[in-house]
Amino acid sequence: MAINIPFKVVKPFFHALDPETAHGLGIKAMKNGMHPAFPANDDPRLKVSLWGKSFANPVGLAAGFDKNAEVISPMLSMGFGFVEVGTVTPKPQAGNPRPRVFRDTTNNAVINRMGFPNKGYEAFRHNIESFLEKPDRPKGLIGINIGMNKDQPEPAKDYCFLMERLAPYGDYFTINISSPNTPGLRNLQKREHLVDLITNVKAVRDQSDNKPPLLVKLAPDLTPEEQKEIAAAALESSIDGLILTNTTLERPAFLPSSFAKETGGLSGKPLTSKSTDVIRNFYRLTKGRIPIIGIGGISDGHDAYEKIKAGASLVQLYSALVFEGPELAGKINQQLLHLIEKEGLQSITDAVGQAA
Ligand code: FNR
Repeated sequence: MAINIPFKVVKPFFHALDPETAHGLGIKAMKNGMHPAFPANDDPRLKVSLWGKSFANPVGLAAGFDKNAEVISPMLSMGFGFVEVGTVTPKPQAGNPRPRVFRDTTNNAVINRMGFPNKGYEAFRHNIESFLEKPDRPKGLIGINIGMNKDQPEPAKDYCFLMERLAPYGDYFTINISSPNTPGLRNLQKREHLVDLITNVKAVRDQSDNKPPLLVKLAPDLTPEEQKEIAAAALESSIDGLILTNTTLERPAFLPSSFAKETGGLSGKPLTSKSTDVIRNFYRLTKGRIPIIGIGGISDGHDAYEKIKAGASLVQLYSALVFEGPELAGKINQQLLHLIEKEGLQSITDAVGQAA
């Protein structure tokens, strides 16, 4: 049962709650069929073909929103072209103590230090299977974002474990090595670790029947030198794509100090231009040879278009949903159509990398 209550009516209620409580309530409502649904925008000019797959539109839901793959159907029916579920880890884990998510409504920003709380891969697989078995499921592609358990001393083991067991269920896979809330995780972005990890996970992937494309998600806080090294490593290891970017450790001076003092990764509006710069730099460094999914502070069609022109073939968002509500994916797609019309382009793919 779809319920199309305007977000401005329910927003004060959700924002009166602790952000994680509000999120949990939203997930629960969606699981019980209480969510808005909008007709899919199937304008062919929004279609993106990548890795032999067809995305109905370039706007995706970012990882972290649906950690346990519980609400794929509702999110796709809200106009997203694809949904990235996870981060999932092999074993269930509780994550950091609460509170661990904070919102700043004056700057449309979020800080989180969740630390990959999730129900583990078995529950995750069961949920995806249930989604795939539904004969009337909405169209749209699924990305699976994989991570390591906090107590795993050999990270590659967890990533390989998950790839082996979940490969049949994902249209693409994301190796998440950029969340700031799992100690040591971001070290995997170092060139020698990265090449090793990709090689191991690819070997497992190549033994699966469907051989899903393998992407790596990176932090926005890499130095120019690190970006150069990673771009070279990505080309060398023939990775299929990059997801740019995860949350930042930076705290711009304009943030209120009571918010900025919270430990964790910052997302939303203050991340917009920083992540776009990283996208542009990687597009240049890889000469456009590696498809990029652009993410970070997208809250309207203009933000999405900037990332596409900087070199992203697809985009994703999370934080803006908190402030703008579930109509957002549809709105962004509509705005993207206006923007390409204004620039005389035939398709959104013609804009990729135009301002790189
Ligand atoms: C995230 N993000 C995230 N990313 C990821 O790869 N795995 C995860 O489990 C999570 N978890 C998570 C929780 C919360 C509460 C937030 C706000 C974010 C990061 C997310 O996918 C995205 O990269 C950043 O938030 C930047 O995009 P937005 O939010 O500015 O659109």
